[in-house]
Amino acid sequence: MKEKILIVDDVKENVDILNQYFTAKGFQTVLAYGGRQAVDKAERERPDVILLDIMMPDIDGFRVCEILKKERTHFKNIPIILVTAKEDIESKVKGLSLGAEDYVTKPFDIKELEARVNSALRLKKALDELKELNELKNQFLGMASHDIKSPVSRIERTVEAILKNKASLAPEQLEQIKKIKEEAQGVFNLISDLLNVVKIETGKMGLELEKVALDKLVEEVFRMNQMAAESKKIVVDVQIDKEVGSATLPKILADPARLLEVLENLLTNAIKFTPLGKKITIHLKKVKGGISLSIHDEGVGIPQNELPRIFDRFARLSPQPTYGEKGTGLGLSICKQIVDLHKGKIDVQSEVGRGTTFTVFLPS
Ligand SMILES: Nc1ncnc2c1ncn2[C@@H]1O[C@H](COP(=O)(O)OP(=O)(O)OP(=O)(O)O)[C@@H](O)[C@H]1O
Ligand SMILES: [Mg+2]
Repeated sequence: MKEKILIVDDVKENVDILNQYFTAKGFQTVLAYGGRQAVDKAERERPDVILLDIMMPDIDGFRVCEILKKERTHFKNIPIILVTAKEDIESKVKGLSLGAEDYVTKPFDIKELEARVNSALRLKKALDELKELNELKNQFLGMASHDIKSPVSRIERTVEAILKNKASLAPEQLEQIKKIKEEAQGVFNLISDLLNVVKIETGKMGLELEKVALDKLVEEVFRMNQMAAESKKIVVDVQIDKEVGSATLPKILADPARLLEVLENLLTNAIKFTPLGKKITIHLKKVKGGISLSIHDEGVGIPQNELPRIFDRFARLSPQPTYGEKGTGLGLSICKQIVDLHKGKIDVQSEVGRGTTFTVFLPS
């Protein structure tokens, strides 16, 4: 199949020269004589590479670059080569920082331009292949996680049924079965995290928005984790500021199930990375433009130099659970994505040996 090249220049003779040359080299050419036309044709024809003049009367090449690369993400992998008489360094830097892949100044040697076009096409091919592989990986991960989820939840339910009949079990058997239950829960959590990652990556994590009372969610997540906290003799103190209390609480438009996942991970982390007998404080308060929720622990803390990576996937940070708990390192990256989808903010402050505070802001 012929490669498609979009040639953009407001001077017709310049377009003609390039058109003739690249047609003779076996390219399919698409021509545009101004910025606006360039954007339209790029959208309609989806070229493989774009040769873009900068100085044009309607909209200039910088703006075209900005529109295609920053505002329309489907052009991310389509290389743009700026072809222009502007020789100053600032223009080159500006063009490249707006997303152009390469820069050629007029007068240029057409063989050099051809070589640059070919190199840009190689880049595009590599990016397309990567995109395809990533999609394949997501499909595989999604399918595998989905198929593993049901048998694991069946194991969990079966084990729970056995545990209902505790009296018939010898103490040793009881311990073993509890262990199976714990492990099954661990696998279930991992699979749920992986499914979330796939949903986020493929843009399929839709939000089902409704008016949510955050204090109710906080109470729910508190109840869900009470046993885990008690088993480490950790006291969880929930403070809900008066004016946020049920009557005047500004409900926020949010997806309650997703927000619950955020709170659940933050609280399980706080419990996981806090030694026996310490305290965790959850604080919900009204702030300008929304609600702020903080979870403070007196745990092991996170070194300052690791904080910038804290919301990365599988960040492998140094803090370790204090009681042999498990984790996969996906929780916080999912929290950040969910908070971002809600147009909120998540921050962290920490001091090694003293504790950590995660703060989530959600707009009301
Ligand atoms: N409250 C905290 N105190 C100290 N370290 C923390 C705290 N929360 C997170 N961390 C550090 O950040 C890492 C990433 O947290 P994250 O929630 O993403 O993963 P995880 O809890 O290890 O696994 P997962 O949540 O996927 O089960 C943790 O492994 C830990 O090193
Ligand atoms: Mg976690």
